[in-house]
Parts: sequence; structure tokens; C-alpha cells
Amino acid sequence: MNNLSAIILAAGEGKRMKSKNSKVLHKISDKPMIEVIYKALISENIDDIILVVGHKKEQVQEYMGSRVSYAIQEEQLGTGHAVMQAEKHFKDRDGQVFVLCGDTPLITQETLKKCYEYHLKNGYSATVITADIHNPTGYGRVIRDGNGNFLKIVEQKDATEQEKSVKEINSGMYCFDSKKLFDALKKINNNNNQGEYYLTDTLEALLKDGFRVGALKIEDNTEIMGINSRQQLAEAQNVMNKRICNKHMANGVTIIDPNNTYISLDAIIGMDTIIYPGTIIEGNTVIGEDCVIGPDTTITDSNILNGVVIKNSIVVESQVGNDTKIGPFAHVRPGNTIGNNVKVGDFIDMKKSKIGDGTKVPHLSYVGDAEIGANVNIGGGTIFVNYDGVNKFKTTVGDNAFVGSNNSLIAPVEIKQNGYTAAGSTITEEVPEYALAIARCRQSNIEDWVKNRK
Ligand code: UD1
Ligand code: CA
Repeated sequence: MNNLSAIILAAGEGKRMKSKNSKVLHKISDKPMIEVIYKALISENIDDIILVVGHKKEQVQEYMGSRVSYAIQEEQLGTGHAVMQAEKHFKDRDGQVFVLCGDTPLITQETLKKCYEYHLKNGYSATVITADIHNPTGYGRVIRDGNGNFLKIVEQKDATEQEKSVKEINSGMYCFDSKKLFDALKKINNNNNQGEYYLTDTLEALLKDGFRVGALKIEDNTEIMGINSRQQLAEAQNVMNKRICNKHMANGVTIIDPNNTYISLDAIIGMDTIIYPGTIIEGNTVIGEDCVIGPDTTITDSNILNGVVIKNSIVVESQVGNDTKIGPFAHVRPGNTIGNNVKVGDFIDMKKSKIGDGTKVPHLSYVGDAEIGANVNIGGGTIFVNYDGVNKFKTTVGDNAFVGSNNSLIAPVEIKQNGYTAAGSTITEEVPEYALAIARCRQSNIEDWVKNRK
């Protein structure tokens, strides 16, 4: 036990998002905001995280599952009221508690750590994270005395003109001594312009009772951006993406145009890989070293080894071996395991297939439910006919086989190692080793047909 826990407020309606979905499930850098905050928190050795849910709580609970504890706020009567709902989780607990908002996902683990240390070192009962921002409209303002000591937070809607001119704002993120927090919550009221119980009023209450309250002002004000609208969601996405791209560039990845490249939080990319514009890397994708990715390529939840080139293509839930080339204009759908030195060329649609080392599928083919060995050549225009309208069947092609252009391989069927098929064949039966299968009508020529047709 670390005697450190956290409360995340996520019960509000998020009206300005105009959405059927909970605000905290909207994604930045391919991850729901609540997940981003959760990740920043758990690295800080938190004993327990209590999520206060209300509006669309089923959605949030389904997403977060049993990773956190829940407190339900039936009616949204303010941030202070929201925290009160978590009190029962603190019956047998003291120590410190972070209070964060579900709609401020850009906070970093480093800042939370800094806040916690600052809070403990100074013996504060409460520490609020603040920052100066150019346009503070909508945020609570931090009011200090002539010596710079924290006095109180005033909400925009309750602020005097003079208070509104203050640029230092409340991030909505705090560290509290948990016992003192719940005592202070009993002392606040809702006599304000919004008729809400403000969590911010506990800070003033604590000071009044003679406790010390700190305000930690941070330099990087992007960390405290609150997301209340789709516009702010886009701005936050932008900030997060910039951070992610900077991290990869610092690790030796070339990103030609970071403003036009989108990388998920969890993606891993190896050194000396080059990423061209229009590339989107989603989910838990891992990309190796010395790859060339893009332009205009989307890779989702895939594992790409070293030296791979993927141009103008989509790759989903697949494995790609060393030095393989994909595209341009390939659609590698879920479930493929592609070997080393493979070519998946232009206009290839591939799903649930296994492709051996050195094999080439260069042009205009559909490869579905196939198991293809090593050093196979699949001729242009070949279709793996895997579906009879009811069931899907598998096609097997052995090592060193050669499939002529424009074949239809009617599954289930097998071409054995070193088997050949002639161009234009419709293969319905097994092709033995070293055999050539020709499965098409013989050509017959009608002499002078053109001259005689009139
Ligand atoms: C709050 C702060 C403000 C700060 C800003 C930072 C208060 C009174 N104000 O204002 O000083 O500058 O955050 O972004 O605390 N919530 C509930 N239940 C409620 C009300 C809110 O769970 O009854 C949750 C919301 O879902 C949200 C968070 O608390 O995640 C903040 O609420 P919001 O209404 O967005 O507060 P702000 O007006 O932004
Ligand atoms: Ca807010």
C-alpha cells in the first residue's frame, strides 16, 4: 500500500460535445480520454482508482470494467458533489488522493509525480495544479494574495471583472489529504451562480480552518487543456499527436511531416524507419527498424518486422516479415501472417492467409483463406475462390509452386510443391508435385469469320 489513491470525475453530461456517447470515451490518439488518464495515473503506484460516473455510466463502466472502482452520481450537482459520492471508498483509508477530471487527458505522469512530491514536501492539505493561459475564458481563475500565496478559485460565472482578467487557471486536478478533503466537502454550499457544489470551494474552506494549500503552476499549459467541445477535442488531439511524433523522432524515426502523420499512443517504431505523410498508425502496432511506411498508409494492430516497405496501403491485424514489400494499393485485412522477403504488390486484397518466405503475389489478386508456401509465384489476376455463398474453404499452395495468370483456385483445393498451373486455368482438383495443370477450353479458330459475317 502506497496510501495514494485517485478519484476521476466523469459523471457530467458533456453537453457541448453533442454526442450520443460519453465524453470520456471520445478518443485522442486512438485511445479513449479516460484510458489516457488511467494510464498516466497507474504508473504512479496508485492503490485504487475511483471513477465517479453518472451520465451514460453503463458505457463508461463497460469500457473500464473492473480495473477501477465506481461511485455513482445520480444527479450532477457539481464537482464537489461528485467527489462526495466517492466518500464510502475512504472509510478505512487515509493518505493522499488525486482528484482528476475525465476531460483533461493531456496531463502527464511526470506532472502528477511532481504535484504529489510538492504536496508532500510542503505538508499541504491540498495542492492544485495551475497554469497561465492566453485565453482563460470558461476556466476557474486562481486568486493569490500580494505575496503570491494561494487564496481561492473563482469560477468564470462568479468572477468579477478584475478576477476575470487573471490568466492563471485551475486545471481541475488536485492532490488532497483524503480525510481533510471529505471534512471540507461537508462545509461547502451551492450558493453560487450555477447552484452547484464546487470542489474548488474546499480549498478556501481548508485555508479557513488553518490548513496549508498549495498551487503548483506548471510551464506547459497544454497539459491542462479541458475538452468540452469537438473543437477542443481536435486541439487536444493535435497536441497529443505532436508529443507522440516528437517522442519517435527523438528515438531515431524520420517523420517527413508530423502534421500529417497520426500515431497511436501505444505504437512502437524502430530506429531509422521513415514515415511519409498521410500515414495513420493505430492500436498496438509494432514497426521494426529501417522500414519505409507511406505515403497514405494505415496500419492497425499489426506487427511489422524490419526493412519492410508499405506504400499507399492498408494493413490490419496482420504480421509482416523482414524486407517484405507491400503495395501500392494493397488491402491486407485481418489475420494474415506474411513471411520474409515477400511481395504483396499492387491491388492485392488479402485476408486470413499465410504466405511463405520469398513468395510473390504481385498484381491484382484476391487471396483469402490461403496457405501459400515459400518461393511461390501467384500470377496476376488470380482469385482464391474461398466462398460458396455459405461456407469458406481453404486453398493450399506448396513451396516453389507457380500459379499462372488469371487462375481461379476453387477451394478446397491443393497445389502440391513444385506444381504449375497454366494461365487462365480454373483449378478444382489437386495438382500433383511437378505437374502442369491446364484447366481451360482449347482455342479453336474459325477462318475468315470476320469477312463472312456480313
Ligand atoms: C472545472 C472547475 C474549473 C476548472 C475546470 C478545468 C469546478 C467548480 N470548476 O470547471 O475551476 O478550471 O474544471 O477543466 O470544479 N463532473 C461530475 N459531476 C458533476 C459535475 C462535473 O462528474 O456534477 C465532472 C465532469 O464530467 C468533468 C469534470 O467533473 O469530467 C469537470 O466538470 P465540468 O463541468 O467540465 O467543469 P468545468 O466547468 O470545466
Ligand atoms: Ca470541463
